[in-house]
Amino acid sequence: MKFPPFVFSTQRNVLGIVLVILGHAAMAASPAWLTANDDKIKAIVEKMTLAEKVGQVTQPDSGSVEDLDDITTLALGSMLSGGSSDPESGNKLSDWAEFYTERQKRALKSRLGIPLIYGVDAVHGHNNLLGAVVFPHNIGLGCARNPQLVEEIARITAREVRASGIQWTFAPSVGVPRDIRWGRAYEGFSEDPAVVALLGPAVVRGLQGADLSGKESVAACAKHFIGDGGTEFKPGGGEGMLDQGDVRVDEATLRAIHLGAYPGAIKAGVATIMPSYSSWNGVKCSGNKQLLTDILKNELGFEGFLISDYNATDQLVSPETDESAPESNNAAGQVRSADYKKCIEISINAGMDMVMLTDRYKEFITMLEELVEEGKVPMARIDDAVTRILRVKFAMGMMEAEPDLWPNKELQPEFGSEAHRKVARQAVAESVVLLKTENALLPVKKLPRRVHVAGSGADDLGMQCGGWTLGWQGDRGDLTPGGTTILDAIKEVAGNTSEVNFTADGSKCEGADLGIVVVGEGPYAEMKGDRYDLALSAEDSAAVAALKAAGLPVVVIVLSGRPMILGDVAEQADAILAAWLPGTEGAGVVDVLTGAAPATGKLSFAWPRSIDQVPLGHQRETMENPLYPFGFGLGYE
Ligand code: BGC
Ligand code: BGC
Repeated sequence: MKFPPFVFSTQRNVLGIVLVILGHAAMAASPAWLTANDDKIKAIVEKMTLAEKVGQVTQPDSGSVEDLDDITTLALGSMLSGGSSDPESGNKLSDWAEFYTERQKRALKSRLGIPLIYGVDAVHGHNNLLGAVVFPHNIGLGCARNPQLVEEIARITAREVRASGIQWTFAPSVGVPRDIRWGRAYEGFSEDPAVVALLGPAVVRGLQGADLSGKESVAACAKHFIGDGGTEFKPGGGEGMLDQGDVRVDEATLRAIHLGAYPGAIKAGVATIMPSYSSWNGVKCSGNKQLLTDILKNELGFEGFLISDYNATDQLVSPETDESAPESNNAAGQVRSADYKKCIEISINAGMDMVMLTDRYKEFITMLEELVEEGKVPMARIDDAVTRILRVKFAMGMMEAEPDLWPNKELQPEFGSEAHRKVARQAVAESVVLLKTENALLPVKKLPRRVHVAGSGADDLGMQCGGWTLGWQGDRGDLTPGGTTILDAIKEVAGNTSEVNFTADGSKCEGADLGIVVVGEGPYAEMKGDRYDLALSAEDSAAVAALKAAGLPVVVIVLSGRPMILGDVAEQADAILAAWLPGTEGAGVVDVLTGAAPATGKLSFAWPRSIDQVPLGHQRETMENPLYPFGFGLGYE
């Protein structure tokens, strides 16, 4: 099913809210399979020591665990590889499979031998591994609005992840980004909660399969609860001027806009949810009992477990120590609160079930044990957290007498395969939005005799992939084997019937019959991607101007994690395609350029003509006189 066209009308916000409310009325609640083993779990929890329970709720980043014996002696329940925590041996599938296996073996040596659930940010394919298929980031999929396709992508991602042994991904992001200056805007499907509610649960179904028991299924994580995309501009701006900020709206607005996909994800059986770093009216979500326990668990009936964000627990400031300045910053430059023990108490009592952290994991374990012994965190709360974690491990078949915990060898041959790339290429094509085509320049059914390609993004796989690709913030250039840049794909179509030349700045284009300029922004992720100014770079604008000055008809392709301010380029270009962050399969963009695929994408965000139209961090409902309105997208005749 495609999203009904009437939703692209100006009434979409009203309709969106109505759809979301209808969704809630259909009562969320996790499916019965998630709690089916509660009797067995009760017996296990009764056998566990306090130390074993606390170990179960602790999730250190692999990069911080120097002594692998800690996994056994502390009976850790989970580990993760953060955005840049790669195996030392390298990033090939075999490196990851070995890395994972080594850690899992240590877990099995603990007294109870409860396996680890190992997590990673596979947010657009298994994006930390060399040779994995990298799919479009969510903003593009929001323009494709095709839940079946999104489910298929998630299914493939799960298969590539299980090929490496890992069973859990911190995806989907179901935030509803309201300010495109936010460096995580591309992780969201849309500024419209109805689109997010349509696609988020589809990812859960794709990753987890019907009930998580499959050997090709991966536990999903809806994140970041709640309002991560609705934060206010921080006074002073600077890096992270919106990220991890404060959402200042009343409860009705918070629910209407930001609850979006959560009820649907819970109903689809999402195994885990990640509370947000951000705050709601000054209170950090990661320590807010009303949000975590009253709304998520009690009202919406979520029976899986809550995983804290990366060192988020470090940042809670207790009411008693509110006055004290943060004590220090950790290695990632994040704030650390002075009273860590109080933070842990607040977060666990608010309903956090597992804590993701780095170097402080031993301190965390000691402090949480003390808090239980001192009666500040009830044992019942710890038992509940452990029960929820074990539910997921049971559902995944990890608690069977002879569980199959190892990298799925049957899935390894299809890792990064042509079949997977084909689906990605289709997804890329469906996500491209045709914004402009003068004199029916597009589709270019047959490339003319000479084509000149220019722009910063024409031959840059890393720029196509964006952040969270082979590293936390992503990188430029040939990051990963396989895949096709847009220039490669144009050359492929040209074969030996057209001549294709490339200069990034557009020089030497004279005499060509067609110009194609791939403009956009370089890779970034959270914090570092917050940008006040979303104008195209001077170099990219100059490349477009150079081709126009030489008299060529010019197609502009925009590679970006959000709408950019096109300035003069909006006028100069004869045709414009928004390609978002398509990932490794650049050929999908060229499929739309040539008409090999139809132009069907519709904007999932309004596209401003000037940055002043984006009110800083405000919960805007409509944009006055945008360059292209929400839902806009031309098609071919
Ligand atoms: C991000 C999460 C991510 C986690 C683990 C955090 O900084 O906010 O989205 O899942 O790191 O890498
Ligand atoms: C990690 C990410 C994490 C970030 C948080 C990075 O070093 O690789 O996974 O999200 O720190 O600041």
